[in-house]
Amino acid sequence: MNRFEGQVAIVTGGALGIGGATSRKLASEGARVLIADIDMDAAIANADGITTAGGVAQVVRCDVSSHDDIRAMVSAAVEEWGRLDILVQNAYGVASAHGDSLGSAVTVSEEAWDNGMAVLTKALYLGTKYAVPEMTKSGGGNIVNLASVHGILMAPKMLIYEAGKAAVIGMTRQMAIDFGPEGIRVNAICPGHILTEGLAKMWEGNEAGLKFFEDQYPVKRVGQPEDIANAIAFLCSEDATFITGHSLFVDGGLTIQLQEDFGVQQAKYAREHSELTLD
Ligand SMILES: NC(=O)c1ccc[n+]([C@@H]2O[C@H](COP(=O)([O-])OP(=O)(O)OC[C@H]3O[C@@H](n4cnc5c(N)ncnc54)[C@H](O)[C@@H]3O)[C@@H](O)[C@H]2O)c1
Repeated sequence: MNRFEGQVAIVTGGALGIGGATSRKLASEGARVLIADIDMDAAIANADGITTAGGVAQVVRCDVSSHDDIRAMVSAAVEEWGRLDILVQNAYGVASAHGDSLGSAVTVSEEAWDNGMAVLTKALYLGTKYAVPEMTKSGGGNIVNLASVHGILMAPKMLIYEAGKAAVIGMTRQMAIDFGPEGIRVNAICPGHILTEGLAKMWEGNEAGLKFFEDQYPVKRVGQPEDIANAIAFLCSEDATFITGHSLFVDGGLTIQLQEDFGVQQAKYAREHSELTLD
């Protein structure tokens, strides 16, 4: 398939992980891809791999917490290739979700909140601000924002990450309304646990832990970066032209479940209240 022939894409955080796989996927189907990242060595390595495979990719240093960097990133794509069709807003150090930013509303610092929101939400507003006028000139386009299952399912002490990802789902729906008339679709992806290079390293030597984790998924595995890259490519493709404002859960069924013992509790409750049956 060559679904993105002639198109230009930017992938923030496009060096590694989900962004890395997305850059490769879009390039493998004909897009010219600008990899925007803070890790230049990894960005160049990914771009080199794409080029060797016959694709077209360039890199730009961009810290998505910087307004100037985001503006320059969009300009760089347009200066290089004359148009912009796809923006994948993906950059975030997942490790940060478990580092300084962990905590409740009582314990997180204002600085951690501001830093987290700069990358999780403000960066997406700014990316969209500069990408939309260029996409409009190209006759339309696609924006895909990376949310998470944590945008709807909450865990203790993850205020910043979860508030940020919930906001991404809301921003996606709102932006889809504003830019639909311009021919721009805006969608989000909510991944479950994806074994990126970084998370694979985290599980090294803890096969039992990973197995326990995988068993929480109805499909009995966690995801690979390619699972998400494939879904992003679908949303950007002609197969999805009537889909906008949608948050697609690519999570092996994780979020469709009730808690493991919910059925047991429900049956117990029904027995104690004999007027109820569960048949
Ligand atoms: N991996 C998962 O299990 C998972 C699950 C749900 C959602 N997500 C979301 O998917 C996205 C990608 O996650 P991942 O696991 O692939 O991350 P990752 O840590 O593997 O890779 C992130 C990439 O972004 C870059 N980056 C980090 N901070 C940046 C910044 N300020 N500016 C520019 N680039 C920056 C890194 O250098 C790296 O190339 C994130 O938005 C994350 O919240 C990931």
